[in-house]
Amino acid sequence: MRSNRRFQRIALLAVVLSLLLTGSGLTRAMAQEKSLYERLGGYNALAAVVDDFIGRLVADKRFEKFFIGQSTDSRKRIRQHVLDQFCAATGGPCIYTGRDMKTSHTGLGITNEDWDEAAKQLVASLDKFKVPEKEKGEVLAFVTSLKKDIVEK
Ligand code: HEM
Repeated sequence: MRSNRRFQRIALLAVVLSLLLTGSGLTRAMAQEKSLYERLGGYNALAAVVDDFIGRLVADKRFEKFFIGQSTDSRKRIRQHVLDQFCAATGGPCIYTGRDMKTSHTGLGITNEDWDEAAKQLVASLDKFKVPEKEKGEVLAFVTSLKKDIVEK
């Protein structure tokens, strides 16, 4: 009788343990399904990367001609559009309301070399904020998907 009780207790313990283990497995799986937006640290973290990236482009002598004559407000609008675009593309709660990449870049004459330089600057910004390799790769893959609409020659 006593050993029967003991067996029941051990069986119960085994069930509880296996439920706990399955539970932690599920939690881990859910954590892995976090959006890129969340893994990057959310809106403020993304804004910091975008601001740093745009700051680098605007300060780069090579890109001066693209931003000449723009008002502070026009630059703010572009900044917000780039941020919204990144936020939406990474699974964040934003909506991109700007123009598509072909419309907004056609006529600027952005070359392959310009593209490579901009990509380098983006990597520098991502590195500055210590974005891990995996997430960095995902951000770069998104940006690369836009290249065909941004580069003209
Ligand atoms: C890294 C990839 C790039 C992304 C994700 C990107 C994204 C954007 C976005 C979202 C806008 C705003 C569109 C709108 O206002 O509706 C924009 C505008 C603009 N971009 Fe880019 N861009 C990229 C590369 C470049 C490069 C390499 C240059 C040249 C240095 C450039 C120059 C401009 C300029 C001058 C505008 C303003 C156009 C206008 O207001 O008429 N972009 N970009």
